[in-house]
Amino acid sequence: MKRVGIIGIGEYLPKRILTNQDLEKMVDTSDEWIATRTGIKERHIVSNGEATASMAEKAARHALEDAKIKALDIDLIIVATITPDMPFPSVASIIQHNLGARHAACFDISAACAGFVYALSIAQQFIACGTYKFALVVGAETLSAVTDWEDRNTCVLFGDGAGAAVLSEVSSGGILSAYLGCDGSRTDLLYIPAGGSRNPASKYTVETRQHYIKMQGNELFKIAVKTMTEAAEIVLKQAGLRFSDVDLIIPHQANARIILAVGKKLGIDEDKIFLNIEKHGNISSASTITALCEAVKGGRIKKGDIILLDAFGAGLVWGACVIKW
Ligand code: COA
Repeated sequence: MKRVGIIGIGEYLPKRILTNQDLEKMVDTSDEWIATRTGIKERHIVSNGEATASMAEKAARHALEDAKIKALDIDLIIVATITPDMPFPSVASIIQHNLGARHAACFDISAACAGFVYALSIAQQFIACGTYKFALVVGAETLSAVTDWEDRNTCVLFGDGAGAAVLSEVSSGGILSAYLGCDGSRTDLLYIPAGGSRNPASKYTVETRQHYIKMQGNELFKIAVKTMTEAAEIVLKQAGLRFSDVDLIIPHQANARIILAVGKKLGIDEDKIFLNIEKHGNISSASTITALCEAVKGGRIKKGDIILLDAFGAGLVWGACVIKW
């Protein structure tokens, strides 16, 4: 099996920013409540006709530039998203055309907030066994399109954005281990009731606001802490490493309190935990990859560092990955 690593990364966040003060004018909430309960101060929201594929394409262009490869070199595009432009065709197909990556096989995956880690792990297999040389993995979401802007329990949490990574064989380092999991018995904790084949769109589903995210936050909170802690332990063990070997944890950014609770359980210093939720909120599958981009850009990651990605989301799904940068 070939050693696989990330050779280029990129992100795109919409220009428009929605602050907690803006939300105070929309629902019965306060900047103080949102900041102390979640760590979020603002989030990026699409405007001017932007949607998931247009953001995914921009992030992908940055990643290709960073990897110094051409679109025509890409053999595979996987987009992790729960907010595709439309049920089908895939966002991956749309961006394949726009990028001019006409040699690439393309598909989307739905693994909610663990989507990027799932997609990374899938792409890794194709390259490790020699099927493909270059893969483009994207996490992209327009959660503002499925957020109920009248529901204070959820509308303060989510944002929009995209991140991308190019994978190929590397001579050293790269992805050391990956671990994916799911507990399908609790799909009721976070979901969108209508718009699929079970409850197709109708006047009734629209009037009863069933096309928006429904969430039982405090139940998810406890499961997220437990699951992300376990996933981090398992994936590090698989890599033959200890927590003292980890230079930076990049967790899914759903709630700063979840992240800090996971860090505490693992006995990891807060300065080894990357947090950017303050400026982004929860961008689901785009969360870990945009955090990785910002950690690299901000000088928090240097060559040879051990990075641990750790994510959890609707499904319930989780995934973790150890990368030697
Ligand atoms: N502004 C003000 N008050 C709010 C509010 C808001 N935006 N949202 C909820 N509240 C209120 C609730 O109505 C409740 O009031 P009550 O006690 O009078 O009923 C109170 O705040 C506490 O609600 P609770 O849900 O217990 O708060 P919490 O501390 O659990 O925080 C979340 C709520 C959603 C921030 C938190 O549970 C969370 O982040 N959960 C995980 C979510 C998650 O990970 N989702 C995605 C998975 S990837």
